[in-house]
Amino acid sequence: NWVMWNDRYVKEEEIMISIEDRGYQFGDGIYEVIRVYEGSLFTAQEHIDRFFASAEKIGIVVPFTKDVFHKRMYDLVEMNEVRTGQVYVQITRGAAPRAHQYPDSSVPAVITAYTKEVARPLTQFELGVAAKTIEDIRWLRCDIKSLNLLGNVMAKQEAIQANCFEAILHRGDRVTEGSSSNMYGVKDGIVYTHPVDNYILNGITRSVVKESCQRLRIPFVEEAMDLQDLSTMDEFFLTSTTAEITPIVEIDGNSVGSGRPGNITRQLQLAFEEKIA
Ligand code: PDD
Repeated sequence: NWVMWNDRYVKEEEIMISIEDRGYQFGDGIYEVIRVYEGSLFTAQEHIDRFFASAEKIGIVVPFTKDVFHKRMYDLVEMNEVRTGQVYVQITRGAAPRAHQYPDSSVPAVITAYTKEVARPLTQFELGVAAKTIEDIRWLRCDIKSLNLLGNVMAKQEAIQANCFEAILHRGDRVTEGSSSNMYGVKDGIVYTHPVDNYILNGITRSVVKESCQRLRIPFVEEAMDLQDLSTMDEFFLTSTTAEITPIVEIDGNSVGSGRPGNITRQLQLAFEEKIA
C-alpha cells in the first residue's frame, strides 16, 4: 500500500519519522479519520474543514490548500484501490530539539496518511452494544481533534474490560460524549445530545444525524443529559465515522428501553444508509 508522507507518496516501509517529532514526543498534532464507501470518500469536505480548523486552533499551518488536500486523499484512495475502508491522516508540528514551546515557524509540519480496508460493523448496527459510564477526565479543549488521546484511551480500555463497546463519558453529572463517538438519548420521540462546545468533538456523523432529524421532523435537542436521565431514556445510540449509528441497548448492566434498538434509532440508521448509497 501507498502512504502519503508530506508531499510524496511512498511505500509504508520508506517513511522515516524523527525521534524528535513533536507528535511522537508530545502528541503535538491533530488528525482525521475519513470513511470510504465503494471507493468514494464520505463527507470529505467536512473532515477536511475540521482538519484545517483543528490545526489552526493549535497554530499549525497546513502546507497546502483544502483543494490540494482533498485531491491527495482522493489519490491515495485510488492508488490503494480502497473499496470500503478509511483514510487516517495526521499532521504534527514537526521535528525539533525537544522543548515544550513551539519551535521556530521555519520547522515544517509533518503530514502522514494511510488507508485501510474496514468492513461496516453490520452486526453491531443490528444488535446494538453495551456501554459503561465513566468520568470524563480529559482536558477542556475536546473540540480539537488532538493526537493526545490518553483520556480517551483510558476510558475505552475501562469500558472494554467491563465487556462494553464504549464509554459514556460524564463531567460530574453531565454526559458529554463517548471515548471516540458522540452520544444521544431518545425520550418521547425527542433526540437529546450535548451541544457543540469545547467539551465534545463536533462529530461529522453528528451533523449528518442532525440533518436527518430535521428532514424526518424528529426534534433534535442540543442539551446535555444528566447521568440520572440515562435510566429514563427509551433509546440510546452513538455515532462516529467508523461506528456510524450504533444502538446502545445496555448501560452499566441495565437494559435501555426494551433492550433492543429503538424505532427512532432505526429510522436514523435507514436515513444514513440512503446517504451513503
Ligand atoms: N473518532 N468524539 C470523539 C472523542 C471522537 O474521537 C470521534 C471520532 C467522535 C465522532 O466524530 P465523527 O463522527 O466525525 O467521526 C466524537 C474517530 C473515528 C477516531 O478517533 O477513530
